[in-house]
Amino acid sequence: MPTANFTDIVLSRMGADIDPRLREVMTSIISHVHAIVREVEPTQEEWFQAIMFLTRTGQLSDDVRQEFILLSDTMGVSMLVDAINNRKGQGGTESTVLGPFYAAGSPELPLGANIAREPGGQPCFLSGHVRAPDGSPIAGARLDVWHSNSHGFYNVQQLDTQPSGNLRGVFHTDADGRWWFRSIMPSSYPVPEDGTVGNLLRAMGRHAWRPAHVHFIISAPGFQSLTTHLFVNGDTYLDSDAVFGVKDSLIVDFVRHMDAREIAERGLSEPFYTAEYEFVLEPATVAASREAVAV
Ligand code: BEZ
Ligand code: FE
Repeated sequence: MPTANFTDIVLSRMGADIDPRLREVMTSIISHVHAIVREVEPTQEEWFQAIMFLTRTGQLSDDVRQEFILLSDTMGVSMLVDAINNRKGQGGTESTVLGPFYAAGSPELPLGANIAREPGGQPCFLSGHVRAPDGSPIAGARLDVWHSNSHGFYNVQQLDTQPSGNLRGVFHTDADGRWWFRSIMPSSYPVPEDGTVGNLLRAMGRHAWRPAHVHFIISAPGFQSLTTHLFVNGDTYLDSDAVFGVKDSLIVDFVRHMDAREIAERGLSEPFYTAEYEFVLEPATVAASREAVAV
């Protein structure tokens, strides 16, 4: 066993003139990794296994697939970083993970448009307002939305079979801060399980499923941008989300409508769902208070 002050010796090798934040971060990383090794006492073989796990995780990551983000998400680290960086002081809507399936450049659509570009799925109408903390409407707020299809896949996972831009769109609120669009019901789905993270989840006796949700990034001049989801109330996986992203305030009733007259009024021939949500953006000037929320 190295001497008790071995960690201090390693830390003392850092130069005198380095970036102070880098010094703080590297001091913490080295200290914690040394503490883990002292506690766990890995065999040489176990340590090599750990290194190969990280190596394969990196090798699986590219412009399209990010196995390291998935590792961070499934180990709860992404939500911890989210909590630290989105401490809400003024009643703004809570945030959650971005996830790996966001794609910039979604089609700009008029309010009310249907983002479902393939047949199938149960029709769903989503609507609400974007407001400031004092309740005043935010006109022209930008909502970037995306979600999985009824089989649990995003279009970026099935570029060969799903139409371009399927289940994605960018909307802007009207003069009353109102937004609305049509889609289909999102589906619960497993995060990608065919890589190192999937192997680790199985070895840890964990499932890979996320409860059904719709992603939103909402922004408006003068307000903090909000990255969040709306989760479908009643989903089996709300209490065991593989990436720990669920917050009670983001669980929404998706109401099923079966009345023949209502169905006809919507120009449909089958039952449909509606869901409403009032988003609140915090002013850009509110500095996050470190004391506001313990994480
Ligand atoms: C998602 O919601 O798209 C997602 C988030 C984290 C990991 C995998 C998927
Ligand atoms: Fe998702």
